[in-house]
Amino acid sequence: MAFGALLRALTIASVVCGVVGNNTPDISSVAPTIVLDKGTFVGVSNGNVTSFRGIPFAEPPVGNNRFRVPVANDPYTGVHSAANYGLACLQQSSPLPIPGPGGLGMNEFITGNSANSELAQGEDCLFQNVHIPANTKPNAKLPVAVWIFGGGFQFGATNAYNGNAIVQRSIAIGEPVVYVSMNYRLSAFGFLSSKEVNEAGVGNLGLQDQRLALRWVQKYVHLFGGDPTKVTIWGESAGALSVAYHLVVNGGNAEGLFRGAVMQSGSPNSLSDDPILAQSLYDGLVNKTGCTNSTDTLDCLRQVPAAQISSAMSATPGLFANGSLHLAWQPRVDGKFITDLPGRLAANGSIARVPFIGADVDDEGTIFGLSSLNVTDDAGFRNYITTFFLPNATSAQVDQVLQLYPSDPTQGSPFNTGTQNAITPQFKRMAAFLGDFVFQAPRRAFMQETAGKQDSWALQIQRGKMTPVLGSLHTSDISLAYGGTDLTDIVVNFVNHLKPNGKTVLQWPKYSASNPQMLALVDGTMPQQIINDTFRQDAMAFLFSLNENFVNATANLCVFESSGIFIKVGSAEVSL
Ligand SMILES: *[C@@H]1O[C@H](CO)[C@@H](O)[C@H](O)[C@H]1NC(C)=O
Ligand SMILES: *[C@@H]1O[C@H](CO)[C@@H](O)[C@H](O)[C@H]1NC(C)=O
Ligand SMILES: *[C@@H]1O[C@H](CO)[C@@H](O)[C@H](O)[C@H]1NC(C)=O
Ligand SMILES: *[C@@H]1O[C@H](CO)[C@@H](O)[C@H](O)[C@H]1NC(C)=O
Ligand SMILES: *[C@@H]1O[C@H](CO)[C@@H](O)[C@H](O)[C@H]1NC(C)=O
Ligand SMILES: *[C@@H]1O[C@H](CO)[C@@H](O)[C@H](O)[C@H]1NC(C)=O
Ligand SMILES: *[C@@H]1O[C@H](CO)[C@@H](O)[C@H](O)[C@H]1NC(C)=O
Ligand SMILES: *[C@@H]1O[C@H](CO)[C@@H](O)[C@H](O)[C@H]1NC(C)=O
Ligand SMILES: *[C@@H]1O[C@H](CO)[C@@H](O)[C@H](O)[C@H]1NC(C)=O
Repeated sequence: MAFGALLRALTIASVVCGVVGNNTPDISSVAPTIVLDKGTFVGVSNGNVTSFRGIPFAEPPVGNNRFRVPVANDPYTGVHSAANYGLACLQQSSPLPIPGPGGLGMNEFITGNSANSELAQGEDCLFQNVHIPANTKPNAKLPVAVWIFGGGFQFGATNAYNGNAIVQRSIAIGEPVVYVSMNYRLSAFGFLSSKEVNEAGVGNLGLQDQRLALRWVQKYVHLFGGDPTKVTIWGESAGALSVAYHLVVNGGNAEGLFRGAVMQSGSPNSLSDDPILAQSLYDGLVNKTGCTNSTDTLDCLRQVPAAQISSAMSATPGLFANGSLHLAWQPRVDGKFITDLPGRLAANGSIARVPFIGADVDDEGTIFGLSSLNVTDDAGFRNYITTFFLPNATSAQVDQVLQLYPSDPTQGSPFNTGTQNAITPQFKRMAAFLGDFVFQAPRRAFMQETAGKQDSWALQIQRGKMTPVLGSLHTSDISLAYGGTDLTDIVVNFVNHLKPNGKTVLQWPKYSASNPQMLALVDGTMPQQIINDTFRQDAMAFLFSLNENFVNATANLCVFESSGIFIKVGSAEVSL
């Protein structure tokens, strides 16, 4: 059945996500305007919602600003259209894991958008958007939801997400909010990391872009009717991981930039680091752009055409390469903006003690398991997880992982689907391992560790379990969040009151370490249920105990795949 079912699943998923970006402005309305500094921005109204799109929040990160900490925009002057989204940042193309037609639609599925290559993109991409209830008065002091999109830190853009839908729903339930979303630099442009980068103090620029956008919100959102003291940062996947970083950087001092956080599929404990891989990626980029002999390679990289960097980064492992969740480009310790692994920072108290929601979908690992479908036996599974995720685990530890995540399909993910969806003998096992190792176990550990120190609520999304092969897959919560569902309400309630409860939400208790409960959003006639956050308890506790080994795991990745300049195998470099 395998590929037919998979194709259907991906098609269904694409259709579901198709609604996300459906955000056509109604040009018949009188165009709304807003004055920022001495500049006038002409937005669009659509029903009850007014939006101002494509507002630059930084100096363009081009020319000498490339690979530099973003600089706030100069005061605005002149008249500008704010009817359209700005350019997306340069995207890393991600070769799809499935050869042939089964793979079609994966990029659309992930980004909720047209294929990456069709997205209007450019290096000058630091734009953000503000969506507000129509006719909001400047002094309305509405709470503000700031959305950070996902896409593996490699792709994605704000125009894939319909901010109007969030604002419309917030109006409908009597809890109006302002919605803000920003672009941030991606892949090599946003997450270059090496000793050269760290010495120059220009690491983690994608996160620094987001932080600058949050400062912009502080400065300007009151003019849109937003309350700068009531900002919640909210993201999914790489967006949730970004939120996690904003919690722990700067010694945990939020600088008044936000007062709450919503993380859908990602927590501080999810994140890895790999300085060896990072340096290899940097050196490879230098090599491929002819900068090898330059006395200042970083400066040389600032001079080469953006297209050269773009094509070089697209030859590095994408989100659906064999190592899947072992991201090549991602935030890393740089000694300045990020001083340690975020899980360690959180554990030692370097964390903003703001209320948060920690959410996961039931089957986080299924789409990432598609990258290793050729792993079909115990030995292959063992080899894969030790290569990419547990290189530093003892043989006995790996044996234990194999026992806790058995090849029995009834134990695998999509969970609770019996013997169905076992498209290969190891697929459901792989999906269970990946989802728990990268998402579910780190979330639980983070919530256990912070319970009692800050308010939090745990959420488990178990809808769409009938989706073939993939179940409640990673990203399936995006169409729920933007769909005017109870998940939208949970977020809107939280943004308003720092509590997720409300008329449409089952009474849902705060997270407690000793009695850890979560709200489950499920299929069927009782769509909300309180469950215990104790499923796969022993397995997840053990996996999390190995989490520190996540460090350095990708030293085994092939660094520049398609043009194959060299491969790192451990610390040895093998030229092709
Ligand atoms: C405006 O909001 C109200 C209240 O939710 C709703 O009834 C109405 O349909 C909305 N109008 C449009 C054009 O979406
Ligand atoms: C770098 O220098 C070496 C040694 O002088 C030379 O062989 C090589 O061609 C140079 N590479 C580039 C890209 O100029
Ligand atoms: C890139 O690296 C390869 C292998 O180490 C080397 O042969 C080649 O000359 C380098 N290219 C440049 C432009 O430096
Ligand atoms: C990853 O898998 C693809 C497809 O099977 C293959 O073309 C590529 O060479 C693989 N890369 C590595 C590093 O194994
Ligand atoms: C936490 O760790 C970071 C980085 O190692 C360090 O700078 C900070 O002082 C530590 N904080 C505490 C409370 O130990
Ligand atoms: C799966 O494919 C990758 C890339 O082609 C290869 O490196 C790996 O060894 C394969 N795994 C198995 C179990 O065949
Ligand atoms: C894991 O890495 C640490 C630090 O490099 C090392 O001390 C330890 O021996 C390693 N464990 C295994 C099982 O290799
Ligand atoms: C959750 O755990 C508590 C305490 O162990 C138990 O009383 C309760 O029945 C459990 N609830 C569910 C839904 O399993
Ligand atoms: C990771 O790699 C760095 C650089 O080689 C090394 O110093 C560190 O000990 C490694 N950490 C682990 C856990 O292996």
